[in-house]
Amino acid sequence: VGTLGNAAAAQGRYFGAAVSTAHLGESAYAAALDAEFGAVTPENEMKWDTIESSQNSFNFGPGDQIVAHAQAQNMLIRGHTLVWYQQLPGWVSGLSASALESAMNNHITQVMTHYKGKIYAWDVVNEAFQDGGSGARRSSPFQDKIGNGYIEEAFRTARAADPNAKLCYNDYNTDGVNAKSTAVYNMVKDFKARGVPIDCVGFQGHFNSQSPVPSDFQANLQRFADLGVDVQMTEVDVAGSGTAQANSYSTIVKGCLAVTRCTGITVWGVTDKYSWRSSDTPLLLDGNYQKKPSYDAVLAALGGG
Ligand code: G3I
Repeated sequence: VGTLGNAAAAQGRYFGAAVSTAHLGESAYAAALDAEFGAVTPENEMKWDTIESSQNSFNFGPGDQIVAHAQAQNMLIRGHTLVWYQQLPGWVSGLSASALESAMNNHITQVMTHYKGKIYAWDVVNEAFQDGGSGARRSSPFQDKIGNGYIEEAFRTARAADPNAKLCYNDYNTDGVNAKSTAVYNMVKDFKARGVPIDCVGFQGHFNSQSPVPSDFQANLQRFADLGVDVQMTEVDVAGSGTAQANSYSTIVKGCLAVTRCTGITVWGVTDKYSWRSSDTPLLLDGNYQKKPSYDAVLAALGGG
């Protein structure tokens, strides 16, 4: 499971990367993935617009390729993502409330059944809350038609589909204590109190100079863990370079390791070459797959190297 993956495993955690099927055939990409990482998250291949672009017709091919690669390498797999307002095919927004509810439950059930037993954790619902200080839910077809209850319904359906997968809520700008993370916190607290199945909360961890690693990052992870859920850093990338970038990565890894229930970290890509924000050079390996100071900082923080 690779150098970073092994160092993390020695700490009882996983260290993964988002991967794209399109790049698995590039030998340098696959070699870097296999040499370094112990977990994968499909970057786009398990999203609704890929898997169910027309209703009740399922395309698992691209996701299956990632699963096959990961299983051959003994890597954990995070499933991403079942219910999200982005990358939704057009047909979804044309449905009535009751038809959308059925379609959501059918999507969750079909996808999780296909991958049953192969996925460590699923991002069941992604990015359901607004940015800013309101703590309100984000407008989406699910929110607007089904209402507040759609999130717990998604989690209940997910638990029934694959009882052994960990079920996560995943979001961004929730890495520190703020109005948005507190809204998520209150939802998780309510779910735990009422027995709605939820096992983990994912913190995406997309950082840049406007949105740096918050000083209360570790405290925020800890307050969620104290609710009785695992926490995971799910999509980490840090715009920048050199020592500043390395220090941010070090803070993230150390913060996770200091929280017993922080079970692992995923960076949002193998190489800057294919990052969704490539010009920010936010990852651990540069565009030529060379290790950056950020890589060395992560390995050191994991106790390796
Ligand atoms: O594959 C098609 C290609 O055939 C087409 O020619 C091209 C033209 O636009 O588009 C390609 O698809 C793009 C896809 O990435 C693969 O590269 C989509 O347009 C593009 O929208 C999509 O972006 C993804 C984005 O989610 C969509 O919102 C990024 O790769 C992916 O990194 C990003 O990941 C999200 C997480 O899922 C959730 N959290 C935030 C994170 C970053 O935005």
